[in-house]
Amino acid sequence: MPTDATQKPETGSANPRHIAIIMDGNGRWAQKRFMPRAVGHQAGVKTVRKIVEYCANENIEALTLFAFSSENWRRPEAEVSLLMGLFMATLQREINKLDRNNIRLRFIGDRSAFSEKLQEKMAEGEAQTQNNTALTLVIAANYGGHWDMCQAYTKIADKMATGELPNQAITEQLVNQHLATAGLPEPDLFIRTGGEKRVSNFMLWQLAYTELYFTDTLWPDFNQDSLAEAIKSFKGRQRRFGHTSEQILNQTATL
Ligand code: IPE
Ligand code: IPE
Ligand code: MG
Repeated sequence: MPTDATQKPETGSANPRHIAIIMDGNGRWAQKRFMPRAVGHQAGVKTVRKIVEYCANENIEALTLFAFSSENWRRPEAEVSLLMGLFMATLQREINKLDRNNIRLRFIGDRSAFSEKLQEKMAEGEAQTQNNTALTLVIAANYGGHWDMCQAYTKIADKMATGELPNQAITEQLVNQHLATAGLPEPDLFIRTGGEKRVSNFMLWQLAYTELYFTDTLWPDFNQDSLAEAIKSFKGRQRRFGHTSEQILNQTATL
């Protein structure tokens, strides 16, 4: 049957395998209530719990949450130290629960800038949950897309210098294998809450073909229904990866 050009493109009904979220708007959420920004960050942790639970129940493979960017050190010292404390307290409270729920925890970012105690806790969380097989929860902490690419290129250059890798042109595959996200599927759906329309140095390489979704909802107000709405929007899109719409339709017809 010839394809009707006016036909609504057939869209993928599959859930995203990997969702990556910029959790933005904690500060404004608190300020709107005439409360200190810290209260917004605390409320944000509650949203994290709900969203992790939802993703685990929906059999999403990976969820990456941007918790602290390589640029967030520029914030007032008091806010940075509050965020570090909250990070530590949340890990202390949640690791066992994640483990019980078969969730694998992984961190991406330059952790050398964190306190030794925090680095130990992060390593402990990863080790304790490494064999879990449900959702992989990736926390991006002191993460930046520029950092990620630089550290990948540095690792590749070092391996070439020592002979562990042959001297060869750098391929996309080689870069993928050395990024902090190595082994994870590419993010299918990117969500940014809080109204800003920018990527703020998050997963720059990995977002090449990710579907982008922006919402004005502030992170503490984001919930399971908001995520369901984002997933619905994702499912209604036709991902073409450079092909034409017709090619995609024919491909779906022959499947
Ligand atoms: C996101 O919320 C959390 C972090 C960056 C740690 P913000 O703190 O950026 O909140 P707004 O953007 O100021 O409202
Ligand atoms: C991005 O949010 C980083 C995190 C959510 C951790 P920001 O609020 O720091 O982003 P900008 O600075 O407004 O772009
Ligand atoms: Mg912000």
